Amino acid sequence: MNSLRLLVSCVLISRCWSTEEPTFPPWFKFGVATAAYQVEGAWNVSDKGEGDWDRLFHVHPELKGHPNGDVACDSYHLWRRDIEMLEELGVDMYRFSISWPRLLPTGFPNHISQDGKNYYNNLIDGLVEKGIEPLITLYHFDMPQSLQDLGGWANPLIVNWFEDYARVVYTLFADRVKIFVTVNEPFIICELGYSKGHVPYHQDQDVGRFLCNKNTLLAHAKAWRLYDEEFRPLYHGKVSLSNLFIWFEPATPADKELTELALEHWEGRYGHPIYSKEGGWPLKIQKFLNDKAMKEGYPYPRMIPFTPEEIELVRGTYDFYGLNHYTTFLARRARPGEKIGRWPLYGSEELGMVMEGDPSWTTGEVDWFTMHPEGVRRQLHWLNDTYGVKEIIITENGYIKVDKQLNDWSRLKYTKDYLEQILLAINDGINVTGYTHWSLMDNFEWMVGYNVNFGLYSVDFKDPNRTRTPRESARYYSKVTRSRSVNHRHIGLNYV
Ligand code: NOJ
Repeated sequence: MNSLRLLVSCVLISRCWSTEEPTFPPWFKFGVATAAYQVEGAWNVSDKGEGDWDRLFHVHPELKGHPNGDVACDSYHLWRRDIEMLEELGVDMYRFSISWPRLLPTGFPNHISQDGKNYYNNLIDGLVEKGIEPLITLYHFDMPQSLQDLGGWANPLIVNWFEDYARVVYTLFADRVKIFVTVNEPFIICELGYSKGHVPYHQDQDVGRFLCNKNTLLAHAKAWRLYDEEFRPLYHGKVSLSNLFIWFEPATPADKELTELALEHWEGRYGHPIYSKEGGWPLKIQKFLNDKAMKEGYPYPRMIPFTPEEIELVRGTYDFYGLNHYTTFLARRARPGEKIGRWPLYGSEELGMVMEGDPSWTTGEVDWFTMHPEGVRRQLHWLNDTYGVKEIIITENGYIKVDKQLNDWSRLKYTKDYLEQILLAINDGINVTGYTHWSLMDNFEWMVGYNVNFGLYSVDFKDPNRTRTPRESARYYSKVTRSRSVNHRHIGLNYV
């Protein structure tokens, strides 16, 4: 096939198999991702406001001695080195987040930090200068403590506060940034945040988590509409949110219905109101949870109803589906009396569901991770069939490790196998246009601190210079981005 025909066939029908090796289509963008609190450090420089994670780790008595993100990877000072690493990797884009308290120390736009503004402008300009596209996440788990004190995501006013913040970010950066993620993983914000697994570190599974569920969606929708109305005509960019979406498959044919409920619980409550044609809550999980609330004697439904205006406000507020995919589980109904093992949280207990890997799959190094790369391809099909989304960007995918070795063969293999499935999905006709690997480098992994790592680059956290060193997976990924192929023979790596 000559190159012109190959290009034409890529453009028309998304099939990009050369005669020898399958390659990613020319429009597909490779990238890596990080988030402000996990990498920036510099928690109190200049006029930065206190963030809720700062408060949690500095003050909460239960967490005394817990590691924190005070310095983290020190990207606040080492951003030039970060850009160098991106160049070494040969990526097309870099997903990073803005620290709300760094940019707006009070949480409100009454005061925009000059220092915060400079930091992000330098980073963005540095990226653009090297031809690397910046992708900004507005909210990646960290909020000004001032707003958390007022109830954070449980306070309906957060919807307006978030819109105000979004306006500042768009006004300052949208001239150079064309892709925005409003809220990262609302599932984690609400489900973990209200079960003491994240900020705000509250235990409130019955009310707080559902206020948060609704308010994150409304805030996202307002921020999307703001861009759509005032900034899109000027800058022609794209805005969506990123959902954590663990993929489920039924353990037995009898578990099919339970699996559908699990998908609505995990993804539907955070995706259906935005991506479905009809909008609003997904009905099965809504009924299930509301019946439960009634049995428990609550006078209000657990899933806080949307008004018809709110349904319309949220429906259709996306330009792509932002997918954070890490792993797949089999779902099965718990046997009578069976203890729901390692996943008692996140609703599996509520659903009476056991989540486990198939014995034939490789288990990861921690209990929440199994390797089943085919899962991502099936999930991409599901997204396409269920919502008919026109574009999907994989905003996170990566491999957790406990040891810090530079020879991270298992991460390399995970990356290869998952990219291979993504490429197959593209060739099935699913429009996946980008992939930002989590993560550029080891960083602060929230409640597990520095005990696990996701980095293509290792970071020496004992070294005041936070020296970064490429792992084997970084070398591999840099070959992938340049050859646009995942095949090790093709790229000259001999790791099998
Ligand atoms: C999702 C989150 O967005 C990110 O902050 C986290 O570090 C990774 N998953 C790995 O757990």
